[in-house]
Amino acid sequence: MSIKSNKYIPFFTPKISSEEIKSLNKTVKAGWISSQGKIIETFENKFAKIHKIKYAIATSNCTTSLHLALLSLDIGKGDEVICPNLTFISPANMIALTGAKLVLVDVQNDNFCICLKDLEKKITKKTKAIIIVHPFGYPVDINKIKKVVQNKKIKIIEDVAESIGAKVGDKLCGTIGDVSCFSFFANKIITTGEGGMILTNKKKIYEKIKLLRDHGMTKEKRYYHQILGFNYRMTAMQAAIGLAQINKLKDILKKKKLIKKNYIRYLNAKTFDIFPKTKNVSSVEWFVTITFKKQNLRNKFIKYMEYKKIECRPMIFPVSFAKHFKNDFHKKNFINSYNISLNSVHLPSSLNLNIKDIKLVANLINTWEENIKL
Ligand SMILES: Cc1ncc(COP(=O)(O)O)c(C=O)c1O
Repeated sequence: MSIKSNKYIPFFTPKISSEEIKSLNKTVKAGWISSQGKIIETFENKFAKIHKIKYAIATSNCTTSLHLALLSLDIGKGDEVICPNLTFISPANMIALTGAKLVLVDVQNDNFCICLKDLEKKITKKTKAIIIVHPFGYPVDINKIKKVVQNKKIKIIEDVAESIGAKVGDKLCGTIGDVSCFSFFANKIITTGEGGMILTNKKKIYEKIKLLRDHGMTKEKRYYHQILGFNYRMTAMQAAIGLAQINKLKDILKKKKLIKKNYIRYLNAKTFDIFPKTKNVSSVEWFVTITFKKQNLRNKFIKYMEYKKIECRPMIFPVSFAKHFKNDFHKKNFINSYNISLNSVHLPSSLNLNIKDIKLVANLINTWEENIKL
């Protein structure tokens, strides 16, 4: 059966409505277009309150947040920092940027989380921190990792870029580690265009991050630079959009759950698994992801869907696949990361999707193998 449709369905489009535009207009009209203006603090306070955390620091993006988080823990040359191999590359790049040694750990097949057994093997006396990435809306059970590192003085940084709103037990992701980092890039659960946030309960970390974010300057003595710092600040314009977005967080998470539920309802998942295979956790839905059980189908599938005007996105490559890290790691030590990466694809996942769109995409997926010579 060949399904006919002329509708183009993009992989992702952000949903910016009148509330965000109104908030942005108000800020711009008041003259707050750079990184000063009360609205940034208001956004920080709101984010901290939702997470029941003492300190929030708004930043230019999650990548710079990760850099600041690592530096706030005094990480540098001679240290080792662990992160999962299947993640967007930011945490790995930021570890390398500090001068510390990047130690990669494979992930689990069922939920793409960092593999606890592999993690235990990779801890050494030089391990100073672990970056835990909550992958694709799935909450890593940090309590288990905390047990592994207890009495070892190893710090935990949570990367919550893809999983705002997910919970470990009754605690939101980003509230259990020493410091946590969030992203508000256009395709994230809430967006400010570009943007990031750091959370911590520790005053010392908070104060160091605030210094580093703003050229190493204190508020008390302007243009006096206490330490080598950066400009990793958020603008008031971003904060204005962020405030409007955060008011919608609950609704966004609900709508995303419904999109996933409808995909599950209409997809005939025989030849692939729908992420995650593990159930009964308080995950959130970021992208809808499927993983083919057979090798070498993924790229053919993406091409077929492209021909049908449906944009799907291939899964990220493992960190160890990057040209600048390739020589430091052996593929054979990261079998799961490579298998998941090469056989997984994200389906259209915008908030703008309606039930008709989802049915169309699901029908195309259910019949694609009949319609293509493999
Ligand atoms: C897990 C993870 N960490 C960090 C980032 C980087 O976020 P940003 O684009 O805000 O720097 C991303 C972005 O996709 C991500 O998925």
